[in-house]
Amino acid sequence: MYVCIECEHRTRKWFGRCPECGTWDGLAERSDPTPRRRTGVAGTGVTVRPYPEIELSDQPRTSTGIGELDRVLGGGLVQGAVVLLGGEPGIGKSTLLLQAASAGADNGRKVLYVSGEESLTQLRARGDRLGVRSSNLLVAAETAVDGILEVADAARPTLLVVDSIQAVRCSGLDSVPGSVSQVREAASRFVTWAKSSATPVLLVGHVTKDGALAGPRVLEHVVDTVIQFEGDRHHDHRLLRAKKNRFGPTDELGVFAMTETGLVEVTDPSRLLLAERSEGAPGSAVLAAVQGTRPLLVEIQALAGEPVQGSPRRTVLGVDSNRVALILAVLQRLIGLELANRDVFVNVTGGLSIQEPAADLAVALAVVSSAMQKALPPRLVLAGEIGLTGEIRAVSRMEPRLRETRRLGFERAITPVSGLPTSPVEGLQLSPARDLDEAIRCCFARS
Ligand code: TYD
Ligand code: MG
Repeated sequence: MYVCIECEHRTRKWFGRCPECGTWDGLAERSDPTPRRRTGVAGTGVTVRPYPEIELSDQPRTSTGIGELDRVLGGGLVQGAVVLLGGEPGIGKSTLLLQAASAGADNGRKVLYVSGEESLTQLRARGDRLGVRSSNLLVAAETAVDGILEVADAARPTLLVVDSIQAVRCSGLDSVPGSVSQVREAASRFVTWAKSSATPVLLVGHVTKDGALAGPRVLEHVVDTVIQFEGDRHHDHRLLRAKKNRFGPTDELGVFAMTETGLVEVTDPSRLLLAERSEGAPGSAVLAAVQGTRPLLVEIQALAGEPVQGSPRRTVLGVDSNRVALILAVLQRLIGLELANRDVFVNVTGGLSIQEPAADLAVALAVVSSAMQKALPPRLVLAGEIGLTGEIRAVSRMEPRLRETRRLGFERAITPVSGLPTSPVEGLQLSPARDLDEAIRCCFARS
């Protein structure tokens, strides 16, 4: 039986394209031809209760032993939750989970780590480098889901790690490990096990270059939480963020550095992100951003110049390109900055992605600074949203942004007029600007 991943159309024969909705490569093999029913519901009826009678229960959470991972999960692992860790091969997924498994074991909890990709000898070689030693950490090299769950049932760990979901196989399906039907079936078996045993499960999932979780998007619907490990293999730092989280927010950012002895948590990412900044260079601005609960200073760079060839190009990395288009239009129309015939590149350094509108002001001033070939004043930080009439609008959580600014030794901030903290941040000069024109004059007044 083949079922379309898009429209659930069923057919006995495989087609390259779903005969119902036309999705290419959409038909996935299913072992069970009848629609699956949830067990335990049949016959019990549906319980209806008045709203106030629902008990409030705090989801008890267990720390993974790795602060930055806990942060992204929303405070730790929830009982029975299935977390998928996605990322490109070689980014450090196995390293992170082996470290988390080991940290849990060091705290006296029994953890089962199943490797479907590496032999136990390879695992040991890696673990020795990471300082793994606890005998509470049980390891197995196994790829059969039945086998893994059998071991898990016998060992009763407090955490099960499976590396990776693409390497395991389910009996009863003919397709190869890693195929849509295998991955989906395996994931739902782990979900069922996690719920019935109230044990959290961490699954590794490889992501291809174009960002898809090797084939099945479906996987993301099956699990409770999807966290993504990103970064550039040529740089040491790695970013961890949640793409989906049933038990917490999705805007938290975890930062790690890859070292000789594994991943190290970066507790002061602002300092790391600004380390390579060339202060005094035109086109560089510092933004006071907020990612989840954490304020973060990041550098925004712009290059506005004569087109290298042909028609002007617009390339934007790390910020919303629609917002950049809006900012460029405002700069051209209201400020009279001639940009139509120029290339404009905007980049957030460190491979970060900042989606909040608070980045607008820093983007705008980085572009102006580059176009004018004049550096922004030193020790200046920016935060503010830009509206279509050039006005600077309030942004959330100004106080933590300004505290972080001061902590890193910056002395001045250009901000919106409203939404400022009631008490001043000591040592920080605030320059609230009503509109973009005022902000630009404020920056370049003395030169
Ligand atoms: P790995 O965890 O195997 O990546 P994934 O599971 O996502 O495929 O990490 C692979 C890279 O990390 C590899 O290039 C070597 C590097 N690494 C270190 O730099 N230090 C270490 O201590 C370890 C274990 C790996
Ligand atoms: Mg791996």
